[in-house]
Amino acid sequence: MNLEINGKTKLCGLMGDPVEHSVSPAMHNAAFRALGLDYAYLPFHVRREDLATAIAGVRAFNIRGLNITIPHKIEAMGLLDETDRPARQIGAVNVVVNDCGRLSGFNTDAEGFLSMLTEHGIEPQGKNVVVLGAGGAARAICFALASRGAALTILNRTAARARACVKDIAKAFSTQVNALDLNRENMAYALQKAGMLVNATSVGMLPDSGATPVDSDLLGPHLTVVDIVYNPRQSRLLKEASKAGAKIINGLEMLTWQGALAFERWTGLQPPIDVMRRAASAALRQHEK
Ligand SMILES: NC(=O)c1ccc[n+]([C@@H]2O[C@H](COP(=O)([O-])OP(=O)(O)OC[C@H]3O[C@@H](n4cnc5c(N)ncnc54)[C@H](OP(=O)(O)O)[C@@H]3O)[C@@H](O)[C@H]2O)c1
Repeated sequence: MNLEINGKTKLCGLMGDPVEHSVSPAMHNAAFRALGLDYAYLPFHVRREDLATAIAGVRAFNIRGLNITIPHKIEAMGLLDETDRPARQIGAVNVVVNDCGRLSGFNTDAEGFLSMLTEHGIEPQGKNVVVLGAGGAARAICFALASRGAALTILNRTAARARACVKDIAKAFSTQVNALDLNRENMAYALQKAGMLVNATSVGMLPDSGATPVDSDLLGPHLTVVDIVYNPRQSRLLKEASKAGAKIINGLEMLTWQGALAFERWTGLQPPIDVMRRAASAALRQHEK
């Protein structure tokens, strides 16, 4: 690791349960090293019943910044001093900044998704996007896309969650958004007129990397397919989408961007995005072994 911990080192970290397989420590420590910053990043395995005590500890230990992951993204909101508007709309925080004991929450999953699209030269305005999923990450992505004027069709295994997401988005944005039950017929109908497909479910994630949320014959060159699953780095969905002639973007991209935007909030500095991407990719390679 070669981190020179000393009396002035600032601490950041990740709170979740589990955290053992996270690539965030590798990604952030590589970024700190690349910029010569006196910061360190640690994983904190925090159980649900200990979350309030752990957040109090952030103030007590003067921890500069946090990532919040499953299962704490919603509950953590109520333990902070403030959250920004996008995080409140989405209903989840994944980043906390500690300014002299005052804790502010943000959602860089949403911002990170948009930054990733920008890096790939994709403008959401006026695009028809099919989003699979209505969990925490899907909500962040749907709000992000709606804020940029994309038209959304949301399909989720639990239809009520997709409908709730549509209702919340419609309250905040005037863009076209609707929910469909998750079945092949609806998927075929929605994908026919779509320009982009986003898998924001956990289908296809290790150890179930043989699974895919979409039948391959529904994919084609008219689509950009984004899979936010990053483990494995190339999911079955992306392999089949690529074969069908679609443009593909893997989950490592969003992962890197949400981390980069967190880094920027903690340090006030431009994140070394390529360093972070390489470190996250190398850490994922280790997990795939
Ligand atoms: N790349 C990134 O930066 C990034 C960031 C955040 C999350 N992620 C990844 O995104 C995925 C979702 O994370 P999350 O935080 O949104 O989790 P979550 O809140 O638990 O939501 C999980 C979603 O997947 C759906 N799902 C799970 N198993 C399914 C199955 N067998 N068939 C159909 N749908 C299924 C759920 O549907 P129901 O509502 O019916 O349960 C729900 O929509 C995970 O793989 C996570 O690692 C990636």
